[in-house]
This record gives sequence, structure tokens and C-alpha cells, in this order.
Amino acid sequence: MQKLQITGGKKISGTIAISGSKNATLPILAATILTNKKILIKNVPIVRDVETMAALLSTMGSFVKLKKNEKKIEIINKKSLKTFAPYNLLKTMRAGVLVLGPLLAKYGVAKVSLPGGCSIGSRPIDLHLNALKKMGAKIKVKNGYITASAKKGLKGCLIKFPKISVGATENILIAACFSKGKTKLRNCACEPEVEDLIEFLKKLGCKINQVGKRSFDVVGVKKLKSAVHKVIFDRIEAGTYIIATALTNGRLKITNINPKIIHTEIKILTKMNVKIRKRKNFIIVSGFKKIKNVNINTKPYPGFPTDLQAQIMVLMTKADGISTIKENIFENRFMHVSELRRMGAHIEIMGNKAKIFGGKKLNGAELMATDLRASVCLVLAGLISNDKTIVNRIYHLDRGYEKIENKLSKCGVKIKRLK
Ligand code: UD1
Repeated sequence: MQKLQITGGKKISGTIAISGSKNATLPILAATILTNKKILIKNVPIVRDVETMAALLSTMGSFVKLKKNEKKIEIINKKSLKTFAPYNLLKTMRAGVLVLGPLLAKYGVAKVSLPGGCSIGSRPIDLHLNALKKMGAKIKVKNGYITASAKKGLKGCLIKFPKISVGATENILIAACFSKGKTKLRNCACEPEVEDLIEFLKKLGCKINQVGKRSFDVVGVKKLKSAVHKVIFDRIEAGTYIIATALTNGRLKITNINPKIIHTEIKILTKMNVKIRKRKNFIIVSGFKKIKNVNINTKPYPGFPTDLQAQIMVLMTKADGISTIKENIFENRFMHVSELRRMGAHIEIMGNKAKIFGGKKLNGAELMATDLRASVCLVLAGLISNDKTIVNRIYHLDRGYEKIENKLSKCGVKIKRLK
């Protein structure tokens, strides 16, 4: 089992280029199922989840060429793909369920493993399945698999999601592009990754109209075109490195981003006294000794992202006074707290609320990562601990952060991978 060892106390300084977004790449890859034409996806992050999704498409019969050095994926689908997504590929990557909508829309059948369990909450897929049922699919869930069929194809209809879900919005958007007639999607997620998927689908020739803040009308098409698409930057990776800089009181240029997309995060971090100078496609961050306390609520975009909650909590341990976090998206997303406490942090949890007492010095310790964002939060805590920190189970981290130890060590951080 690989581990990361971080020796705290070094200031971050230099430049970090942000990779393409994992959460945008995964639905875009799933959407390629709809077309038999050549697809080129650029700015792909080379992380485990992307490799898993590429492997999933390959097992279905897709010709997938991942050019790691060029950060590109080329895809050409056979006339007909297998419509089976096995457990061994979906057990580690929940987003694998995104192949359900496109398979069903294109082939009228699909057998897809229920995605693996995840420690941040129960994470059901009822919103995905109920919407597909409304579009005419017959769905059974048995022995850990979803078996779905729509012999005459999916039919457009009105779908009002009872809750905002990124994955359900993406799955149904893709399916609607290949369904009969018009699908009206309401109460959709409008994360930048959803917008990026829509941009890609439009390049394929899909007819998607935004008719309101969280509303899209989609008219199904029969044939699609080939497309070249550059994936949007990873806003969570960008936020993580801003926080790393603030923690170490360093100075960092963060490139390959659009600051407008992370305006909420920038606003909150500025409130905490982090200095952020914005330019068109980069920012310059400088830390400040006195971090101010703040209260945040995680919310769907444009609110503060749940995926940055664990990281900002580490910064809050350094703040002047008490900060609070209300986690509104996932019911069990405070798994990192017990590990931060083992380092000396004072954090109280009441249901979905956390109270973080600032001004605490963190001590290095041997830690266990529980999920993707919790892992990176422990790495961040290691940056400010007074000695060595070892983070175990970093396979979680490798699912979503591209070359984190290379990016950080180039900027002066003492970090290495132990095999
Ligand atoms: C995506 C992101 C993940 C991020 C999350 C919220 C990807 C690959 N992952 O996950 O990094 O943390 O959005 O921004 O893009 N829910 C249901 N029923 C469903 C689906 C969701 O009740 O059928 C609930 C979830 O349990 C959760 C909430 O809806 O409480 C939001 O989840 P959702 O937006 O669907 O998250 P994902 O798409 O899985």
C-alpha cells in the first residue's frame, strides 16, 4: 500500500498549472457512447478514475487511446458496443453509472453494476433511475446490477428533479440527446462540469437549450458528428492549491484556470485574509499570517463546493477564533475530522455542522485517508504540522489528483511517496 510522507514547515512558492477536471472528463467520456464518429478529448487529467472510465469503455468494445504524455484521449466506437458495465470497474468509481443513460438511449438495453459504496454517505441513484423510468425504461435492480430496457427507445418528457444532483443531471442530459422528442429537465445541477458536458454534447450535434437558471430543453437527434473538445480546468484542484498556499504563508501562481468560475471560493478565502490577485487565466495567491475565521455552508454551484470542505477545514484550524461549516450535500462527509483531531485539531461535530476552534498547532502523525477529498485534506494538514506526517491509503488521492507530490515538491514542499 503506497503512502505519502510530508515534512511540514516549508513555504510553497512557484507556479502550479491546474489539470483538466476529472468530474468533467468522466461524463464526457460516458457521452461518447452516443456516437460512432471519431472523438478527441484534450486536457484530460491523468488520474485513476479517468483510466477506469477509459477501461470501462474499452471493455464495451470502444477503441480508446489514452495518450498520457499529451493528456489526450481518442475514441472511436464500433457500430455496436456491449451494453454491460461490470462490478470490477464500477466498484471504485461511482461515476461509472453515467454509462447507464447513454447505453439505454442508444441501444435500448443496459446492464450496469450498482456503483461501489462510498464512505461520504449513502449516495443513492434513485434520481437517475426514476428519471429513466419516466422516459419509458423498465428497470430492475437485482444481485448488485441494474438491468434496464427500453425496447422502443427512450421518450422525451418533463423531468423535474426533486433534488439537485450533478450525476443525475448529466446521465439524463446525455440520454435525452438520443431520445425521441423533447425532454424538459428542471431543477438541474449547473456545475461548470455540467456546462462543459453540454458544450461537448452540442459539438456532437445535440440540441440543448438552456431555458432557465436550472432548466434545459433537449430535443433528441438520430445522428451525431465527430468532435474535438478541451476539458475545463479542475476547480477543486485549484481551490486545494490556494488553500495550501494560504496554510504555508507562501506565494503561488496558479495557471490554466478561469478565476470567474471559482468566484465563491475566492470570495470566502479573501474573507479569511488570503490575498488573491486575479488575471484572465491565472491567479497569484499569497498567504497571510493572520487567518480570519469564517462560517460556510456547502451548496450546489455557485455555492461553496462540498469537494473543498475538508481542505478549508484545515485552514480553519489556523484561524483566529471559531469557524463553522454546515455540510448540506453529503450526510457523512466529516470522516477526516477524527484524523485531524489525532493531529491536535479541536473540532466539534453536531450532525451536519462542524465547529472548528482556530489557533491550534497540528502535530505530524500516521493517518488513514478515507476518501478522495479527505486524503488531500490530510496532506494539507501535513504541510503545517511540526514534523513528519504519513498519509496511508493514498489510492483515494490517485483517483482524482494528478501528480500531487510532483506539483508540490517543485514548489518547495517536502513530500515523497513511500512504496
Ligand atoms: C458529483 C461529483 C462529486 C461531488 C458531488 C456534489 C462527479 C464524478 N462527482 O457527485 O465530486 O462531491 O457531485 O457536488 O462529478 N442523491 C440522491 N439520489 C440520487 C443522486 C444523488 O439522493 O440519485 C443525493 C446524494 O446522496 C447527495 C446529493 O444528492 O446528497 C448530491 O449528489 P450528486 O450531485 O448526485 O453527487 P454525484 O453526482 O455523485
